[in-house]
Amino acid sequence: MALTVFQAAELLIQGRVVALPTETVYGLAGHALDPGALKSIFKIKGRPLTNPLIVHILDQSEAEKLTLTPFSPKVQRLVDAFWPGPLTLILPKAPSVPDLLTAGRPTIALRSPKHSLFREILSLCKLPLAAPSANPFGCLSPTEASHVRNMFQETPIPIVDGGPCLLGLESTIVDLSGSQAKLLRPGPLSAEALETVLGEPILVPCMQASPNKPLLAPGTLQQHYSPHTPLYVYPYGSILKNKMGKTALIYFKKPKKLEEHTYFLSETGSFSEAAAQVFRMLHTLDTQGYDAICIEAAPPEDLGISINDRLKRAAAKFTGI
Ligand code: TXA
Ligand code: MG
Repeated sequence: MALTVFQAAELLIQGRVVALPTETVYGLAGHALDPGALKSIFKIKGRPLTNPLIVHILDQSEAEKLTLTPFSPKVQRLVDAFWPGPLTLILPKAPSVPDLLTAGRPTIALRSPKHSLFREILSLCKLPLAAPSANPFGCLSPTEASHVRNMFQETPIPIVDGGPCLLGLESTIVDLSGSQAKLLRPGPLSAEALETVLGEPILVPCMQASPNKPLLAPGTLQQHYSPHTPLYVYPYGSILKNKMGKTALIYFKKPKKLEEHTYFLSETGSFSEAAAQVFRMLHTLDTQGYDAICIEAAPPEDLGISINDRLKRAAAKFTGI
């Protein structure tokens, strides 16, 4: 069922869950302070209650209603530079924020999205909206409304269709709850861009969660974003070879000779184009009867680091990393 922004706002006010477009990926949105709506989000996604949700707000003044203290000068610099946009900040939470939302943590994840439809809905419903990516737990993130529809065929979810997401990778997450800024999830904004604005180095903790180590961003599991088709990632510059059976080969940049079952993420080798395509390409090829998908990683710099982070997690299940 495709919704107008007015219908979506009405459903959200009633405590219902709807899928909404953002500039990064589609989100599964619900009233962030309504335990009923939060429970529905966790249930629909099949997400463990130990994995907290991001809250989307229109602007800083709405964000500061949910944080323990007003923004510090450091937070202010990042917000002035990157909100609205693909930056999620982890900050100490206000006592009124439900524990269910933050999975019992003393911090809250906040983001002001840039997508015009999402912003219209935030203005109409006047609520903070919790919205994890609109995929079942562990599956590929959705960058088009059809991805959401296909992944939730059993429990159809009302969707506002905003077309393909512009950026195609989930937001960059920065933890500012301690004395030093930490990058918890690479995303559309690079560590360098953040450091320039912060005026200090940003700590990049080991991104890999292991069974014996507590998770910094609870959702940054080694195995995540998986397609159903076995996926294998090769270093940038590799010549891709067929696996056993029908294999799709995806290059980062359009190869000179494009053979059958060969695809590419960007015509020109542009990072932003590749980022916008990567989940879409995997969703599409996942439904085309391939026995394997082999993909060339992005050059390991700039946005390529975020693209490769997602590819590594998506392939972990098949390579046993
Ligand atoms: O771009 C995005 O961020 C998208 C769109 C819909 O806004 N949302 C998204 O949500 O990617 P999700 O839930 O798929 O990823 C949010 C990540 C999870 O790994 C979660 O564990 C982490 O943020 N997170 C949420 N609250 C946190 C907190 N208080 N401390 C540390 N990590 C937190
Ligand atoms: Mg997600």
